[in-house]
Amino acid sequence: MIDALHTLEREALDRLAAVESNDDLDHWRAGYLGRRGALTLLLRGLGSLPAGERPAAGRQANELKSRLQAALEASSQTVCATVAEPALDVTLPGCPPGAGRLHPITATVRRMRAAFAQMGFQVFVGREVESDEYNFTLLNLPPYHPARDSHDTFYTARPDVVLRTHTSPAQVRVMRETGAPLRAVVPGATYRNDPPDASHNWQFYQMEGMAVGPHIHLADLLGAITGLAHLLFGAQIPLRFRSSYFPFTEPSLETDVQCTVCGGSGCRLCKGSGWVEAIPGGMIHPVVLRNGGLDPDEVSGFAFGAGVDRIAALWYRIPDIRMLLDNSMRFLEQF
Ligand code: DAH
Repeated sequence: MIDALHTLEREALDRLAAVESNDDLDHWRAGYLGRRGALTLLLRGLGSLPAGERPAAGRQANELKSRLQAALEASSQTVCATVAEPALDVTLPGCPPGAGRLHPITATVRRMRAAFAQMGFQVFVGREVESDEYNFTLLNLPPYHPARDSHDTFYTARPDVVLRTHTSPAQVRVMRETGAPLRAVVPGATYRNDPPDASHNWQFYQMEGMAVGPHIHLADLLGAITGLAHLLFGAQIPLRFRSSYFPFTEPSLETDVQCTVCGGSGCRLCKGSGWVEAIPGGMIHPVVLRNGGLDPDEVSGFAFGAGVDRIAALWYRIPDIRMLLDNSMRFLEQF
C-alpha cells in the first residue's frame, strides 16, 4: 500500500508539472482527486488491509491527499498567470471606438463650396508656397508697391518665393489655365506674420472666388456674396457693404456680416463694433485680367477673398479664431 502511494505521488506530480491549461488542470484533478480518481480509489481500498496496517496507511494516504491538493492549488495559480485567459466581465463598460470628425475649418470650407457649387462655381487648388510674382506682381503690386507692407509676408530662403499671403494669386493661375468665361473658387491656407488676436492669426484660410465673362458687373459680385451669406446664415442675416481699396480690384469693397457671437452688441470677435469683416472683393483690375491672358475690352470679372476662419467663427459662434488652430482636443471634440 505504502509503495502504491509513493508511485502514485511521483506520477501525479510529474503530470502536474506538464499541465499547460485550465482544461489540463481540470483533467488532472478528476484523474487523481475526483470521485473516481486514483487516490480516491486507493483510499477506498484501505478497508481491505489487515487491521494492523490500516492506521499508518490511512495517515499516509491523507497526507498525500493534502500534498496533492496544495500542489494543485499552486500550479493552478501559475497556469492562470501564464495562460492568462482573462475572465469575461460582461458588466464592464465597453471600449467605444473614437469617432472621427471634421475639423470646423474643413466643415466650413465644404459648406461654402456647396453654396458656390449651387451658383455654378468650380473648385481649383492654388499653391501655398507661391512665387513673389504671382502673390504680388501679377496682382498689380509691383516691387516697392507700398501695399506689400500690409501683407506681413513670410519669406522663404529664396527671396522670390513666399508663403502665400492670400489666395488671390490663384486668380491669375486660373485665368491662364482656363481662359474666359469662368467661375471658380479656390480654398486654402494663407500665412501672414501678423500679431494674432481674436480675428487674426498667422495661419488662416481664405476662399478666393471669381467670375469672368463678357457681362460681369458689380451687381453680380453683390449677388454672389449675398447668395453665400444667405445660404450659410439664412436670409435674415444683416450684411453691410463698404467701399475699400485693393490694388487688384477697381472698385473694391468690404463685406461686413453682423456678429453672430454677440448679436451685434459688441464682443472680442467683432472688436466691439457688432460687425465682422468677412468677405472683401471687387471688380478685377484690367491689369490683372491682362496678366491672366484676357482682354479687359472683351471681358470683365469680379473677385472676392472670403475669410474662412471668420465665417467659421460666425457659423459656430466662436469668440476667437485662434481657437480653431490651437489643436485642443477639448475644443475640437465639441464639433
Ligand atoms: N486678397 C485680399 C486679402 O487677402 C482679399 C481680397 C480682396 C481678395 C479683394 C479679392 C478681392 O479677390 O477682389 O486681403
